[in-house]
Amino acid sequence: MRTSRFGKALLLAAGLTLCTIAQHVTDLGGNGWTVTNSEGNVTVPGSLPSQVHLDLFAANVIGDPYYGLNDINLRWIAWSNWTYTSEPIAGLLDSAADSWLVFDGLDTFATIELCGQPVGTANNQFRQWTYDVSGILKSCQGEPVININFASAPTIAINIANESGQETFPSVQSYFEFDYHYFIRKEQSDFGWDWGPAFSPAGPWKPAYVVQFQPGDGLYVLNTALDIFRQGQINWLPPDQSKPWVVNASIDFLGTLPEGASMHIDIDDSGTGSSIASGLLDDVTILGNTITGNTVIQPNIPKLWWPLDMGNQNLYNVTVSIMDKNNKALATVTKRTGFRTIFLNQRNITEEQLAQGIAPGANWHFEINGHEFYAKGSNFIPPDAFWPRVTAERMNSLFETVVAGNQNMLRVWASGAYLPDFIYDIADARGVLLWSEFEFSDALYPVDQPFLDNVAAEVSYNVRRLNHHPSLAVWAGGNEMESLELPEAQSDDPSAYPKYQAEYEKLFISLIAPLVWENSHSISYMPSSTQNGYITIDPSLAVPIVERYQNVTAHHYYGDSDYYNYDPSVAFDLNTYPVDRFANEFGFHSMPSLQTWQQAVDNDDLQLNSTVVLLRTHHNPPGGLGVSTAGGQGGMDQMTSAVQTYYPIPSRADPLANFSSWCLATQRFQADMMKSEIAFYRRGSGMAERQLGSLYWQLEDIWQAPTWSSVETGGRWKVLHYVATDIYKHVIIHPYWDYNEGDLNITVTSDLWESVSGTVKLTWLDLKGKPLHKNANMPSKVDFTVGAINSTNVYTNNINNIPIPDLRDAILILSMEASGHLPNNDNEIQFTHENYFLPVWPNQAKLVNPELSLSYDAKTTEFTVEAKAGVALYTWLDYPAGTVGYFDTNSFFLVPGKPKKIPFSVQTDTSNGAWAKAVTVESLWNQS
Ligand SMILES: *[C@@H]1O[C@H](CO)[C@@H](O)[C@H](O)[C@H]1NC(C)=O
Ligand SMILES: *[C@@H]1O[C@H](CO)[C@@H](O)[C@H](O)[C@H]1NC(C)=O
Ligand SMILES: *[C@@H]1O[C@H](CO)[C@@H](O)[C@H](O)[C@H]1NC(C)=O
Ligand SMILES: *[C@@H]1O[C@H](CO)[C@@H](O)[C@H](O)[C@H]1NC(C)=O
Ligand SMILES: *[C@@H]1O[C@H](CO)[C@@H](O)[C@H](O)[C@H]1NC(C)=O
Ligand SMILES: *[C@@H]1O[C@H](CO)[C@@H](O)[C@H](O)[C@H]1NC(C)=O
Repeated sequence: MRTSRFGKALLLAAGLTLCTIAQHVTDLGGNGWTVTNSEGNVTVPGSLPSQVHLDLFAANVIGDPYYGLNDINLRWIAWSNWTYTSEPIAGLLDSAADSWLVFDGLDTFATIELCGQPVGTANNQFRQWTYDVSGILKSCQGEPVININFASAPTIAINIANESGQETFPSVQSYFEFDYHYFIRKEQSDFGWDWGPAFSPAGPWKPAYVVQFQPGDGLYVLNTALDIFRQGQINWLPPDQSKPWVVNASIDFLGTLPEGASMHIDIDDSGTGSSIASGLLDDVTILGNTITGNTVIQPNIPKLWWPLDMGNQNLYNVTVSIMDKNNKALATVTKRTGFRTIFLNQRNITEEQLAQGIAPGANWHFEINGHEFYAKGSNFIPPDAFWPRVTAERMNSLFETVVAGNQNMLRVWASGAYLPDFIYDIADARGVLLWSEFEFSDALYPVDQPFLDNVAAEVSYNVRRLNHHPSLAVWAGGNEMESLELPEAQSDDPSAYPKYQAEYEKLFISLIAPLVWENSHSISYMPSSTQNGYITIDPSLAVPIVERYQNVTAHHYYGDSDYYNYDPSVAFDLNTYPVDRFANEFGFHSMPSLQTWQQAVDNDDLQLNSTVVLLRTHHNPPGGLGVSTAGGQGGMDQMTSAVQTYYPIPSRADPLANFSSWCLATQRFQADMMKSEIAFYRRGSGMAERQLGSLYWQLEDIWQAPTWSSVETGGRWKVLHYVATDIYKHVIIHPYWDYNEGDLNITVTSDLWESVSGTVKLTWLDLKGKPLHKNANMPSKVDFTVGAINSTNVYTNNINNIPIPDLRDAILILSMEASGHLPNNDNEIQFTHENYFLPVWPNQAKLVNPELSLSYDAKTTEFTVEAKAGVALYTWLDYPAGTVGYFDTNSFFLVPGKPKKIPFSVQTDTSNGAWAKAVTVESLWNQS
């Protein structure tokens, strides 16, 4: 069959990492499929990999699923069963001894037939499925045709929930559109989430093959687990960095392994191709259809892999072959990998740490190659409601944005889907660590044996598949289980709580932890994304991780935090933010830009309170299939009241321009709040809590709607992404203002691995840009030294003691310069950061018209912005639809007489360069 429309990314991914020499593999990918529903009123051409919505859209039976209210209008698709029927499969061997159908993924409840004969069923989107079809093909009448019937997942979920004797759970789970997602192993957000649509797509979403063998043929590689670790390494203990590397290679195959097979390995530098190791593997063992062996490499031979800005992303191509006794390769697989250790340190605080002023409790931070570091980043959600159209090209652009945003870690949120290898490949090359999770979220889950068996197969497959990626940082059991679900269950049903906790431990500890440890020596495991760590880990216990839960002592710190507060009146109250070792979720939602809204909504509907806008606002979620704007109105009110509390209220005469101005205003608040939190968490690296990570919620969008994202659908940066880029610089200066008490602390924070020295300039101006008398008695320059991954105060005072004639007409400009080194880098680098402090909220400031000017130099491709008549706050450059890219800096302040040159990086452009003429500039002055 021909290559499908959507197949490119997945085929490319397969090509990057998987190369088999099985002789008779027929790729079922391509356009030669037909899709029919159970009602019989729809039959369209289909493809593989694909999903029903994509094929119906391609056939013009439905419009763009993302348009308008199609999220609601297309629910009939999710309630139908759909059958994918292949064209007659050409090129099969007539006389094969053995034939298999291999599906790398089926979404989700599939019943498969070949030649009209039943082949088997599937019930887990995240597994690879193989079926022996030798007998069916041998007796096939006529040309072989495959039928894959996908049953309605929402219907199946209801049916499972209604089975007699079925377990019920405390009422914490029905927030979203389709119900009972926790009974099925399908992307949980397909049933709705508070940032996304509820399509419940179905279809053969990954590649599929017919694999045939004749006597003497080789083997077909189903999956490979490559595990690189320090000799003696144990998942929950810090690895000894002086030990040799063990490379453990394990291949799951189809076919018959002859007697006397061996394994061979080659490890080459992925850039130069020069080999660092080659030879037979030792200790070869065969268990079922898995063959495993290992080799040891001396510690100084491989160059280490490091995350972004901590060193180079050194990569190696590892080629593993299964050989017969005549040294003929029966199967060969190549994976690109790296040598590093990554460790989630949750161990007790030591005496030595206490002596350094670190508060007692437990650690909760990551260590790369034995070195602790500050994790900066965000949370990654499914980038599309339909995975088959997620291409490597799109993901490359997104990761360019991540790296440009100074982010070294993303949390790949459960649930979602386990990412395809090509996304990990991109992260490996760009140095972005991926905190990875099993796909369980915001629910309690059943623990009947068939469910546990299904999960076990899913976990083993994905741990093995992904383990070779150096970007893989950790495995977590699920999302918000210990911070949200268990406490809610406990308060809903105290008497039944011990049962629910025991079930939680059965699934997320007793089942999953040993599966991770069996398949990987290199990766740490925690049962839940946000938690207080463990008291003991002992594999001999029935529950091998003894969780700490709420068994805590006041003023001790143990874990990571998850924090949302939708009361805008305390958004900048530093006393409301959580103090803990790591912040893995925190956010506030905002509107996407007008340009992005216009991809999906008619101009007539682009009003804050229009039905379409409110129905696309899924915070608060609707709590079922009823169509009501009440939930969205709640989320809209939070955004608008936040703007009203702190900023001038948009009031443009033109309704569309006013809507656009509101969208920007909500983004300004979101960015300010996240900046305040990120700066707070980062400062904690130098405080008793020894805070070592902040990952805001959320990186990117799944569709065009108000959400917590910093990057819109299509790749346009919101204000937040620019502001986060700035506050995630290595060395930052920030004013911490306790506005209730008046205390102002100006602090430098650094995430470098050695101390740096520099100077901070403090300059008070009025809003026309004139210096305040005697700099309001503040020193104009302060020298500082800040320790490795630490923070230091450079100025402390109470605002009431600073002689400022008019607080509403004053701004403090903070300007930091320091020199030092990035980790593992000998070059001396100048680190600079600028920030400002307004002693009143922006809507109280006596703004003056800054009379901004904007010019563009086509030769240098730089824009120049200048404030001619006053201080410009929240200066915002905007570019037209049809182009995607990012300015070097945006949402900045400008003082008169200091023009700023700003390059723009183009990611895609359909205007042939004309976009540059349509760039506009405005500032907070223009918001009212
Ligand atoms: C097909 O039938 C379903 C169920 O009756 C209906 O909801 C849907 O609109 C129909 N689709 C088309 C394209 O006729
Ligand atoms: C849909 O599929 C399910 C599961 O295979 C089956 O029980 C049901 O009868 C099917 N419905 C229709 C209308 O074909
Ligand atoms: C290593 O593998 C990568 C990705 O599979 C490939 O692009 C590169 O050319 C390989 N390097 C060598 C030296 O073969
Ligand atoms: C860590 O501290 C806890 C008390 O919080 C204690 O029960 C546990 O034994 C300690 N673990 C180790 C490995 O020392
Ligand atoms: C707290 O930890 C102690 C010591 O491990 C244990 O005996 C106790 O059951 C725990 N309590 C709770 C509420 O988990
Ligand atoms: C939107 O609706 C809310 C609640 O009904 C109201 O308070 C607000 O003023 C409305 N906003 C606009 C722009 O009409």
